[in-house]
Amino acid sequence: MDTVRALTLAFLLSGVVALDNGVARTPAMGWNPYNVYLCNTDEAQYQAAAQALVQSGLKDVGYKYFGLDCGWQSTNRTSSGTFMWNATRIPSGIPALAEYVHELGLLFGVYSDAGYYSCDFVGGTAHWIGSLGYEQSDADTFTEWGADYLKYDNCYAVNKTDFVDDYPPIQEEPHYTAMRDALANTGREVVYSICEWGVQDPARWAGPVGNSWRISNDIGPPPSFANLQRIINQLVPITQFAGPGAWNDLDLLEVGNAGLTEEEWEMHFAFWAAAKSPLFISTDLTTASNEVLDILGNERIIAVHQDPLGKSIAFKRRYTDDYDVWAGPLADGSVVAVLLNWANATQSITFDLPDVGLSAAYITDLWTGAELGTTELTYTTSVGAHGALVFKLSNGVLAPPTQFTTYLAESLSNVLTGGATPRALNSSASVVGYIGYNGTLTFTGVDGGATGGTKLVSLTYANADYTFYNTDCSNCRRAEVGVNGGAPVIAEMPISGQSWDILFAGYLLSLNGFVPGTNNNVTFSNYDAWAPDMYSLGVQA
Ligand SMILES: *[C@@H]1O[C@H](CO)[C@@H](O)[C@H](O)[C@H]1NC(C)=O
Ligand SMILES: *[C@@H]1O[C@H](CO)[C@@H](O)[C@H](O)[C@H]1NC(C)=O
Ligand SMILES: *[C@@H]1O[C@H](CO)[C@@H](O)[C@H](O)[C@H]1NC(C)=O
Ligand SMILES: *[C@@H]1O[C@H](CO)[C@@H](O)[C@H](O)[C@H]1NC(C)=O
Ligand SMILES: *[C@@H]1O[C@H](CO)[C@@H](O)[C@H](O)[C@H]1NC(C)=O
Ligand SMILES: *[C@@H]1O[C@H](CO)[C@@H](O)[C@H](O)[C@H]1NC(C)=O
Ligand SMILES: *[C@@H]1O[C@H](CO)[C@@H](O)[C@H](O)[C@H]1NC(C)=O
Repeated sequence: MDTVRALTLAFLLSGVVALDNGVARTPAMGWNPYNVYLCNTDEAQYQAAAQALVQSGLKDVGYKYFGLDCGWQSTNRTSSGTFMWNATRIPSGIPALAEYVHELGLLFGVYSDAGYYSCDFVGGTAHWIGSLGYEQSDADTFTEWGADYLKYDNCYAVNKTDFVDDYPPIQEEPHYTAMRDALANTGREVVYSICEWGVQDPARWAGPVGNSWRISNDIGPPPSFANLQRIINQLVPITQFAGPGAWNDLDLLEVGNAGLTEEEWEMHFAFWAAAKSPLFISTDLTTASNEVLDILGNERIIAVHQDPLGKSIAFKRRYTDDYDVWAGPLADGSVVAVLLNWANATQSITFDLPDVGLSAAYITDLWTGAELGTTELTYTTSVGAHGALVFKLSNGVLAPPTQFTTYLAESLSNVLTGGATPRALNSSASVVGYIGYNGTLTFTGVDGGATGGTKLVSLTYANADYTFYNTDCSNCRRAEVGVNGGAPVIAEMPISGQSWDILFAGYLLSLNGFVPGTNNNVTFSNYDAWAPDMYSLGVQA
């Protein structure tokens, strides 16, 4: 079967176009030094870390890839052009280190770069070598040394002076396909981890190129809760691209590292696991506390991560009282739901089962294993500041889908003020843009039904305001949404994609103040920033 037909068939079967290189059918798990040692790890530290991965029991629950990051390389190739390590830092050599790792029952990962040099600075004008132009030679060398995994970064990809370009003037994909093909030519099974920080929207092209692709700029170090929020919002539009062999990489774990609370470590770990990101521990396991080992070793949550269906959780709902609901299917027909408490304080959170399409289910708490029993419609419990609920929902009863009456933003009966103006989305549809500051969009003639009151609305919008760095609302925009001139609610709406022609459909919001009959109006505004561009408003029928 030719490649195109093989890919088409794979797509028809799974809905996901994935690299079929025999590995990473479930997302990889392992250890990487970067978040704890940056580029400064030596042979003794690698050996101690590999030992600790085994002795902690974490190898046995699935963390089997022991990977290098930047700093192991030399600044020069050998006279024959072969990749070299820093012989001061790795005195026994990389082949010996690979053997050490393999003898512990682990798999061995190397790190290189799709540019002229690798990331980060050696000092002075020297650079660690990259693999651009040496793809086959380096793939041969790495696999001869025993590599089972390659993390492939993207520094100096444009030229020898530009360390990193978030918006590069070249296409990145050919650099990555060159190494994919070189690895395939070696005949060794190697997990191929694309690390280009989400530039050029890799979820939309990297499925047939690598086994995973970074979706965002680094999580740290230093870790911070704001980094988690930035990355989680950035995942919203691309969860559907994850599947066996092809994963969204949310970056290395910060669990165990100072800068996050224990509850934040838990939210981080559970979300990464249920989103099917590769799980690479990046803390010092020789000193890790029992709390840290318990989070990383939670076998119920690891089972979700390693579930053979390989579907990511998807964004379902963001409540204005500061929590998110995400959910996705598991192979046994059950559903995993992850609720994120964004609030800076403990709060009571109500899980509305219809948000995940169910009216009743048997709930198991995956943190503790506690059987919470059969629940109808809602389950309410207290969640600590920045904590997460992780529920497995079995024997689910499907909820009837909510019916919406849809109103298009471009309709001539709507009222636009200030700078708000329609923008063509494609040849047959428009959105209304420049909502915010003085720009407002008011839908008129909206049906409040026989009783009015509170209604669920469903918003379809475009927001390509994505960011590499933390902002006030990282990878999201706020809209103030009010009914009939009443006090607006503030919706935090994640990006819909990396280009302005990609819509997000079905952002749910509860609005009150509807009156009976068809004389309601609904206004979108934002007094001090831009709101998303609106495509449509659906109102619960
Ligand atoms: C090689 O390793 C030594 C010892 O860690 C370090 O001092 C030196 O900076 C490294 N050189 C390069 C080019 O990375
Ligand atoms: C090693 O690489 C550096 C660039 O990083 C270069 O300036 C230097 O001449 C090279 N040394 C040798 C011996 O080739
Ligand atoms: C390197 O590329 C950057 C853009 O990524 C450009 O601004 C810079 O001028 C280039 N430098 C050279 C020496 O070509
Ligand atoms: C939560 O704390 C952060 C950091 O101190 C702050 O920026 C944010 O405004 C707080 N959020 C709320 C809702 O108070
Ligand atoms: C709205 O604000 C823009 C500046 O952001 C200004 O150019 C425009 O004239 C204003 N329009 C109205 C109708 O006030
Ligand atoms: C234009 O976009 C709308 C909204 O996504 C879609 O329903 C429609 O099919 C698109 N039309 C064309 C011609 O692409
Ligand atoms: C929306 O309804 C409010 C309250 O009835 C009214 O004051 C306002 O003028 C209406 N706006 C539009 C654009 O119809």
